[in-house]
Amino acid sequence: MPDHIPPGIANAIDYERLAPQALEAGRLAYIAGGSGQDVTLAANRAAFEHWAIVPRLLRNMSTGHSRLTLGGMELPHPYLLAPVAHGLLAHPQAEVATARAAEATGTCLVASTLTSHTLEEIAASAGPARWFQLYLQENRAHTLDLLRRAEAAGYRAIVLTLDAHLQLPSRSALVAGFTMPPECTAANLVRYPPAPAPPLAPGASRVFQGAMRHAPTWDDLRWLLKSTRLPVWIKGVAHPDDACALQDAGVAGLVVSNHGGRGLDGSPASLAMLPGVRAAVGRDYPVLMDGGVRSGSDAFKALALGADAVLIGRLQLYALAAAGALGVAHLLQLLTEELHATMAQAGCATLADITPESLTPAPPC
Ligand SMILES: Cc1cc2nc3c(=O)[nH]c(=O)nc-3n(C[C@H](O)[C@H](O)[C@H](O)COP(=O)(O)O)c2cc1C
Repeated sequence: MPDHIPPGIANAIDYERLAPQALEAGRLAYIAGGSGQDVTLAANRAAFEHWAIVPRLLRNMSTGHSRLTLGGMELPHPYLLAPVAHGLLAHPQAEVATARAAEATGTCLVASTLTSHTLEEIAASAGPARWFQLYLQENRAHTLDLLRRAEAAGYRAIVLTLDAHLQLPSRSALVAGFTMPPECTAANLVRYPPAPAPPLAPGASRVFQGAMRHAPTWDDLRWLLKSTRLPVWIKGVAHPDDACALQDAGVAGLVVSNHGGRGLDGSPASLAMLPGVRAAVGRDYPVLMDGGVRSGSDAFKALALGADAVLIGRLQLYALAAAGALGVAHLLQLLTEELHATMAQAGCATLADITPESLTPAPPC
């Protein structure tokens, strides 16, 4: 049956509202869930309610637009498709469908290391605006091979994710009895068999000496920066001091993120950390954010608080599940129209006009 836009989608967030119709309960729980007690998952959404947008009057909006230049790309809007693993959970065409939607809408796609299709298959369907999200592999030769493949396939930047080496299980996925279907493999990694983990010494920690044994360090980052000709962005930044150190180390830009609440549970909302990171790195250094963005007005608030653009995680999977490439393209169109409407009513004809003064703290209801 061909994909079609389901009835009842008037706003971008409707794709989330209707996700139970498009996704089997276990898959939905895995995608929607966070980690631990879901404290950060909830905080990401709640943070947007702390701000209200101030309407402005009588400004000429007739030449307004949401174009920007980011990482050397000319983009029509400040939305990127966040890296998400296992697209096959949402749709049989998985990331190939997402890539088609990105191409059709001029959107930058950030392809995950853990996609259901290979990075080469995704590149063949994507437009020129494509970045590759990297998880450092235990074996540097495997990481180097991934880098060479991403370079050869025309990805224009590497986005190194650093906040998810350790992930507590998602409570909602556990309760729903979700297990990863066998067909959901990480297609990029099948050629890199993992070395068997050595047994833990008596008394050793399953975290420190176990899962964190090969977690990336500053040495690995320095090595990575020397190992690719592509600009390297860092995803998972929260602390202003880390932001400054990463800027000094020579990374191209930052993504303020907590992995959509799937990393350290109890960490603050991405939106709450954004102003501190922006203040630390200065006005002109590229800073993106994600976590909880569900509408054009959410995006507007993130831009006002210091982001140059925002990444869309779960909504893209819900739209993919609902209507494949068509759904993701429709989602991006809705998000863009919502942002334009918000900008126009807030008196901001361009993204540069969106400033902290565009917002006011929302009074408690
Ligand atoms: C199902 C799922 C899979 C994800 N897989 C990855 C991944 O492979 N790499 C990565 O850097 N981030 C991954 N993320 C995090 C997203 O890139 C993004 O940070 C997060 O979803 C943003 O929050 P939002 O879902 O509220 O928009 C994943 C998120 C979800 C929900």
